[in-house]
Amino acid sequence: MKNICVIGTGYVGLPTAGCFADLGNRVVTVDIDERKIQRLLAGQMPIYEPGLEELIERNVKAGRLSFTTSYEEGLRDAEYVFICVGTPSAVDGEADLKYVRAAAQTIAQTMTHPMIIVNKSTVPVGTGDWTAEIISKSQPKPIDFAVVSCPEFLREGSAISDFMKPDRTVLGSNNRSAAEAVAELYEPLHAPILITDLRTAEMIKYASNAFLATKISFINEISIICERLGADVTEVARGMGYDKRIGSQFLQAGVGYGGSCFPKDVKALANMALTHGMHPQLLNAVMEINDFQRKHIILKIRDLLGGSLEDKTVGVLGLAFKENTDDTRESPASTVVRSLMNQGARVKAYDPMAMEHAIRELDGIIPCQSAYEAAEGVDALVILTPWNEFKNLDFERIRRTMHEPILVDGRNLYDPETMRQHGFVYRGVGRGYNGEGRTNGHAHTTSAL
Ligand code: UGA
Repeated sequence: MKNICVIGTGYVGLPTAGCFADLGNRVVTVDIDERKIQRLLAGQMPIYEPGLEELIERNVKAGRLSFTTSYEEGLRDAEYVFICVGTPSAVDGEADLKYVRAAAQTIAQTMTHPMIIVNKSTVPVGTGDWTAEIISKSQPKPIDFAVVSCPEFLREGSAISDFMKPDRTVLGSNNRSAAEAVAELYEPLHAPILITDLRTAEMIKYASNAFLATKISFINEISIICERLGADVTEVARGMGYDKRIGSQFLQAGVGYGGSCFPKDVKALANMALTHGMHPQLLNAVMEINDFQRKHIILKIRDLLGGSLEDKTVGVLGLAFKENTDDTRESPASTVVRSLMNQGARVKAYDPMAMEHAIRELDGIIPCQSAYEAAEGVDALVILTPWNEFKNLDFERIRRTMHEPILVDGRNLYDPETMRQHGFVYRGVGRGYNGEGRTNGHAHTTSAL
């Protein structure tokens, strides 16, 4: 059993705290947001993540997990402090480190004994050194500490299983024995552990996210070519994915990647390259394709509705940036919905988990209680998040209640032929053939969007 303090109760902090406690450690979780801590103390989760509530409840009951707003309490017995605070994008694309800075300063001012400070937040290369400097400068009197970078690779929606069954753990430090001490915490997970230097560990995180984003933009570009040439991108991806060198994951064409990580991290990496005199050609292309993919879906809807969205009603299924989360940050669906409304459409929308966030962020949407309600009376229905509950809807019922039977499937959830048999005019992504006939495609232009 080790004593761990986790700073931050977001999508990384809470699963990390819960999982470390579940592995038998004693974990104190600190957040300066009084409301969040009050909710957690009352057993309510500030975020939706499958399995999280049970995990937290079990470990709180067992006395291994607690919550506080007090750094003093959090650090009192801590051997390890995990910084899991947000690193949003600043206006220029660089990561904004104000929360990391504040956490480092407060740790420095509060610590009363030596400890290992582990950074899990995604931070620009060099931040580990910078954190160490801030801590040294902010300590009232010198106390030993080491900084270790342990980038987080968990995904929202599967955070707990990603934590418990990682592909690897990466630890970077200029202090080898501190990295080895952190490795002990991860040994029960039986996954490969790579120990390297601080900057390399920080770069592994950016390179991994940028590579996955590149895979998505690659298949999205292929999807546009498929539409023009009459091929089906879902089959193309399947055929490619069997090749072990390529792999089948992250080859789903759709409305582009979103969320709080890929958009921000690709931008930040490109920015790091730029500020060091390098032109990030590939990363720029990845971002450009991703932007276009969102616009492409709007062009599709507009074309199917006769060239104008003015006074049309569009039903939207899915607002979260992906399935199994309530997170709408950088959600492709938000961009699409805003654009539809800007072009004069009324938007009826439904998401199983993200309605609360969406209502706050998307002024003017008509919120619905179910997929069926969102489809009623609309001129077109669009799938923007691949939730399981959208996979097996009563399509006869949906089609009957729609004003026009136009179905635009931004996540390729359905079989085009089956949808045609249900009487829909169906358009997926990158499915130029296979039931829907060759499409004319769209000019690669983003004008008027
Ligand atoms: C991503 C990484 O997958 C995690 O390894 C990493 O820890 C995390 O960022 C982070 O940096 O914190 P996450 O953003 O939670 O995780 O979600 P993903 O499952 O990676 O999906 C990102 C976006 O790509 C979503 O909008 C998703 O719908 C989209 N996507 C994913 C596709 O369009 N196609 C795919 O084939 C896969």
